[in-house]
Amino acid sequence: MFEFVDPEIGFTSSVIRDPKRFVGRSDLIQSCMNALNAREGVIAVYGKRGVGKSSLVRQVQQMANGNYDIAQKAGLAHLIPRHPRRYYTVYYACDSNINNTDELIRRLCNDTDPEDGLLRLVPDAGKELSEFSRSDEASAGLDLKLIKWGVKGSDSQKYSSVVPNDTIQSFRNFVSGSVDANNRMWSKRDGVLILLDEFDVIGTKFGMGSLIKSLTSPTVKFGVCGIGADIGALIKDHKSVARLIEQGAIHVRPMSGDETRQIFTTATELFRGKVSFAKKVVEQIVELSEGLPYFAQLIGKSSVQYGNEVGSNNIDEKIFGEVLGKIREGKSFPNLEEQYQLAIGRGKERAMLLTLLAEQQGEATLYNDEVGRVVLQRTRTTAQGLGIEYIDQLMPRLVEERYGPALIKGEQRGHYEFADPVFRAYVKLRKLD
Ligand SMILES: Nc1ncnc2c1ncn2[C@@H]1O[C@H](COP(=O)(O)OP(=O)(O)OP(=O)(O)O)[C@@H](O)[C@H]1O
Ligand SMILES: [Mg+2]
Repeated sequence: MFEFVDPEIGFTSSVIRDPKRFVGRSDLIQSCMNALNAREGVIAVYGKRGVGKSSLVRQVQQMANGNYDIAQKAGLAHLIPRHPRRYYTVYYACDSNINNTDELIRRLCNDTDPEDGLLRLVPDAGKELSEFSRSDEASAGLDLKLIKWGVKGSDSQKYSSVVPNDTIQSFRNFVSGSVDANNRMWSKRDGVLILLDEFDVIGTKFGMGSLIKSLTSPTVKFGVCGIGADIGALIKDHKSVARLIEQGAIHVRPMSGDETRQIFTTATELFRGKVSFAKKVVEQIVELSEGLPYFAQLIGKSSVQYGNEVGSNNIDEKIFGEVLGKIREGKSFPNLEEQYQLAIGRGKERAMLLTLLAEQQGEATLYNDEVGRVVLQRTRTTAQGLGIEYIDQLMPRLVEERYGPALIKGEQRGHYEFADPVFRAYVKLRKLD
């Protein structure tokens, strides 16, 4: 009997917070666990766009709060310390309006988010905090949520520990004050963990390394996360923190086929068996999504959606064929489609060229980080064979910032890289109009 199901129950395109939804990444979880339990040190999570960095950072936050479900799930129960270090946690997503270190610290000191902001933890008369669980199940890890501001309100300038015109010192006071004051109220924790996501978009990254180094102590740990092929891309002066990052460098790569398969077993569990995917369909999705969990989640979601439309909870090959047809026509993923249209700019030839580039198989194997790199020269003959004559005139739009960019120029002449691996996977799938 068909039953209408909400696709979001099993699939999501958002960052994953709940350990129940998080699949695989056992080795990364292990590294994060070690880095968290080191007395001093910085965690640096980096990798390509959309591979699952923020979701991993949210799991780090869970563990910092003492919820080690994710480590259990990853089969690492025997490695969980008997008395894991526990932290008060701060999570902040940076944006490109932050130009330098001082601005970043000021933002942190003024972040009033009731679940993730630093200001919530700063002691102040009349402020009310309560414990809450970040996952569905109320297990060991409880974080603090702000339910009522103190008498002075939510402006950091009003706090007694503020040192006028010295953000860094105010920050230090806030952090040490937070640990001491909250330890008097709640079960004792070792320090504060400050997680900075989207760290790559900060204007001047220079100086971040030495700042983080100067602020890191046994009671303050930083975790930074962002797009980059290496730590150097994330923290320009990373050498100054090299010793601190040694243990905590965490490179998130595309998922293995097995991990992508687990997204579907997990989804089936979350749907409580109300939805099923044929084995062959899952295999097809594993291949099409190229280890990108975001793409796998999107395809899963639109399959369930389509199942609802045609009145079936069993996604078999026939139904999936139709789902694919819609994706290929550009009807399923509006964001990716918009990106696609912007990049090709009504140019039929440019669309063809982009597809040829997306299909180019590098020397690197699939599921590898190198997979997005392409060389124009290799596509030239094929393109000419298809009647595309002025290749060099079609290229500029594909690398121009305001049209995406779809591609980023490599160091060598004629070498490019797809800016977003998910977009590349989409272009491969997209039918030419
Ligand atoms: N371990 C995982 N298990 C299942 N799904 C995942 C996992 N990690 C990420 N995803 C899914 O992949 C997508 C991207 O995840 P996330 O936002 O964490 O990636 P990101 O690398 O931070 O992306 P961006 O570069 O855009 O910031 C989301 O749809 C998320 O649900
Ligand atoms: Mg992210």
